Amino acid sequence: MSALTDTARDIARGKLEAVLPRRWSHVQAVAAKARSVAAAVPDEDRDVLVAAAWLHDVGYSPDLVDTGFHSLDGGRWLRRQRFDDRIAALVAHHSCAWLEAEERGLDAALADEFPREESAVADALCFSDMTTGPDGQDFEVLERLAEIRSRYGPDHLVTRFIIRAEPAMVAAVQRTQSRLSGRVPQPM
Ligand SMILES: [Fe+2]
Repeated sequence: MSALTDTARDIARGKLEAVLPRRWSHVQAVAAKARSVAAAVPDEDRDVLVAAAWLHDVGYSPDLVDTGFHSLDGGRWLRRQRFDDRIAALVAHHSCAWLEAEERGLDAALADEFPREESAVADALCFSDMTTGPDGQDFEVLERLAEIRSRYGPDHLVTRFIIRAEPAMVAAVQRTQSRLSGRVPQPM
């Protein structure tokens, strides 16, 4: 696509492919999904969307784990690398990370360090992540949320997060679908 998306892909590959091959399968499919829904964002934002999709889970790489909260760790690491600030912030907040941050006691840190973008790009990134399974398969959003709950189990904080985030995630998916179909999105 562009130098930005190629760089993002190469960074993600370097951090994930060898050490977390299943996560890498998911990430490749999320990036492909983001490309496929790029019409849901303004032309000038399409590369930003796809680059953020490549990098959204880079914080799972054992090399960069710090707090153990992958969204914040990924955003911080991208910022330290002097990667694009907007993309670092999209990664830090991706897929309702602000609600997971509350479960982890990291909500103040996340909010202080990264502005939260509420936009078609943030929605399309959430769509791409939440309609793609752990092996890269296509899922409906509710199927994906059920898969996450069963993978982590009932007592895990990720499960508590996913239950709280469901309405916001479903709304982001629906807004993206509305934009793709040319309907005017409902007010947020
Ligand atoms: Fe993901």
